[in-house]
Amino acid sequence: MPDLYPLARRILFSFDAETAHHLTLWGMKMAHSAGFLSGLTGGKKSIDSNPLEVMGLTFPNRVGLAAGLDKKGEAVSALGDLGFGHVEIGTVTPRPQPGNEKPRLFRLKEYEAIINRMGFNNPGVDGLLENVSRSRKEFDGVLGINVGKNFDTPNEDFLSDYLDCFEAVYGAADYVTANLSSPNTKGLRDLQSADTCRELIQKLQEKRDELKPMHGDKSVPIVIKIAPDLSDGAIKGLAEVFSETKIDGVITTNTTIERAAVSGHPQAEEAGGLSGAPLTDHSTEVLALLRREMDDQVPIIGSGGVMAAADAQAKFDAGAALVQVYTGLVYRGPELVREIAGLG
Ligand SMILES: Cc1cc2nc3c(=O)[nH]c(=O)nc-3n(C[C@H](O)[C@H](O)[C@H](O)COP(=O)(O)O)c2cc1C
Repeated sequence: MPDLYPLARRILFSFDAETAHHLTLWGMKMAHSAGFLSGLTGGKKSIDSNPLEVMGLTFPNRVGLAAGLDKKGEAVSALGDLGFGHVEIGTVTPRPQPGNEKPRLFRLKEYEAIINRMGFNNPGVDGLLENVSRSRKEFDGVLGINVGKNFDTPNEDFLSDYLDCFEAVYGAADYVTANLSSPNTKGLRDLQSADTCRELIQKLQEKRDELKPMHGDKSVPIVIKIAPDLSDGAIKGLAEVFSETKIDGVITTNTTIERAAVSGHPQAEEAGGLSGAPLTDHSTEVLALLRREMDDQVPIIGSGGVMAAADAQAKFDAGAALVQVYTGLVYRGPELVREIAGLG
C-alpha cells in the first residue's frame, strides 16, 4: 500500500492549522465508521506488535498518541486504527470552556514544529465521557485521560478540579494523567513545585483508595506530566517527590516556552508552547535526568519531538518505557506510528 499521507498533508497544509485539525479528525472518524481507516493506514498490524506491561497495564505496543489532539474524546477507535497502542485524550477540565481566542495554532513548517496556545478548549468532563462511551467501542489499546483545571479556578483551589475530574473519569480511564505543565493556563505550571505536587499526588492516591472498592477493585494508575522548562534542581526535587510517593508514571515532556531553536521565524514570538523537532533533544535530556534521579520502579513516558523512529529509540535508550507523538503525526502521518511500533 503506497503511503498516501504526503498527498493528504499537502491538502491539509493548504488550510489554516486549526481547520486542518478539525478536517483530519472528521475524516478519520468517517473513514473509521466506513471501515477502511485501518486498511488505509496499515495500523492494525502495529497493534499487538510488541506488547508490554507498564504501570500494571498491558500496552499492545510502545507508541501512543499524546494529549491535546483528541481533546473531546470523540475519535478514540479511529485513532486506534492508526496503530497506537495507547491514546491519551483531553486535557479535560471539570466544566466546559472555549479556550483562547483564535488564531491559537501555528505551523512552523520549516522547523517541523507547532506553536499552540489552545488553552484547554474542551467539552468538560461530562461531555468528554459521553463522547468516550461512543468512540472507544472498537479500541483494543490503553485509554489515558488527561485532566487539568479550568482557567478561572484560582490556583489555591486547584486540588478540587483535579480530584473532581479524577473521580468522574475513574470508571472510563485505564490511567489518568494530571497535566501540570501546559503553558497556556495562567499559573498552571506553578503547580509543579515539589510541595504542591506532593500534595496533589497524595490527595489523588487517597481518592483512589476511596474509589477502588466502588469500581470492582480497579486501581487506576496516576501519571504526572511535566514541562521541559524546569531547572535541573527543580527536576531533581520532583524526582524525589515521585520516588517518595511511588507515583505510577511520569510524562516528560509537554511543550516548551523556549524559542531559541526557532528564532527569526516570523511566528517564533507567538505566545504558547512549541512542539516538534526543536523540542526533541531537550525533552530527551529532561527524561534522562529524571531517569537518573528517580526510583527506577517509576516508568517514564517520553513525549516531545518524536519525529522519527530514531527519536523514539533515543527516548527508550534514555530510559523511557513508552513514547507518545503529536507533532510528528502532523508532519509524518501514520507511517511514523508503524515505524515506532515495530521497534524491538
Ligand atoms: C495543538 C496542541 C495541543 C496540545 N494540547 C495538550 C493538552 O491539552 N494537554 C497536554 O497535556 N498536552 C497537550 N499538548 C502537548 C502534547 O501532548 C505533547 O506533550 C507535546 O506537543 C510534545 O510532543 P510533540 O513534540 O510530539 O508534539 C498539545 C500539543 C499540541 C501541539
